[in-house]
Amino acid sequence: MTALDAKRPLQLNDQGQLRHFLSLDGLPRELLTEILDTADSFLEVGARAVKKVPLLRGKTVCNVFFENSTRTRTTFELAAQRLSADVISLNVSTSSTSKGETLFDTLRNLEAMAADIFVVRHAASGAAHFIAEHVCPNLAIINGGDGRHAHPTQGMLDMLTIRRHKGSFENLSVAIVGDILHSRVARSNMLALKTLGCPDIRVIAPKTLLPIGLEESYGVRVFSDANEGLKGVDVVIMLRLQRERMTGGLLPSEGEFYRLFGLTEQRLKLAKPDALVMHPGPINRGVEIESAVADGPQSVILNQVTYGIAIRMAVLSMTMSGQNAQRQLNAVSYTHLRAHETKANL
Ligand code: CP
Repeated sequence: MTALDAKRPLQLNDQGQLRHFLSLDGLPRELLTEILDTADSFLEVGARAVKKVPLLRGKTVCNVFFENSTRTRTTFELAAQRLSADVISLNVSTSSTSKGETLFDTLRNLEAMAADIFVVRHAASGAAHFIAEHVCPNLAIINGGDGRHAHPTQGMLDMLTIRRHKGSFENLSVAIVGDILHSRVARSNMLALKTLGCPDIRVIAPKTLLPIGLEESYGVRVFSDANEGLKGVDVVIMLRLQRERMTGGLLPSEGEFYRLFGLTEQRLKLAKPDALVMHPGPINRGVEIESAVADGPQSVILNQVTYGIAIRMAVLSMTMSGQNAQRQLNAVSYTHLRAHETKANL
């Protein structure tokens, strides 16, 4: 467990419901299952002619993305709109952060506009925790990806994809392949798979793209030979090379990486014939995945994006319920305190 994850109770209210959604570490299996079940029920909303339910009517969701995003930001916007919330998406490149305003001051100003939920993406690991600790307690913070640390809604949409296609996590072998070292998605997926009872989690990467101590920290099996690691798996989750987070020459070349680790049609034959192919996106064709595989019959890459809307609807609505429940609990304690004080004064 990292120092950041030691702060995990911050995410839960006194009744164990979500108040923030920062990381999957320490969240119990029942809560992850509730997120998946809630998302399952929201998938039906996306298939309706009028894709709206009134759960967050009158609430304001603010997307604050300090890093680029296509899928996460757009699907959070759609999810909030489908829940009938008002949505603001801050374009950080044109906001006052580009004039020297700190993250904290930007958020304080947004807080003053009475937003209810902030969805935050930031390049620094721990940014979402920092904000959750420092903003007004009635605001829910959802982590849209922080550095290498966590991408919890991606982790949960990946779990929803696996559950919908494979039924459950028991008896599954899942391989996560590629740049594990820089991947917040890999960390969130390992934690979610472990919590949900997946018995065989394999991590496949060149030694230079593997953090040390993965086996002990996450209970996974590590392979540096892709052909060995892919044998008989039910699910392959490919990751892109995250050049933006690499500080040195960790690979001889992209061509060499593709030759040894790229998911080609030939290499996919080592997995079970009905193995799912997943990727959080953005995909780099010919770098970590062959086009024929990305677009092939085993690929569920675009399904992941659709499921992402339902997962984000679930997380937005559950954090708002958790915040409301905590507020009511605080109000009750306050009423008791006042009653006690009044009695004492008499
Ligand atoms: N999977 C993911 O986080 O994609 P974006 O960077 O486009 O949000």
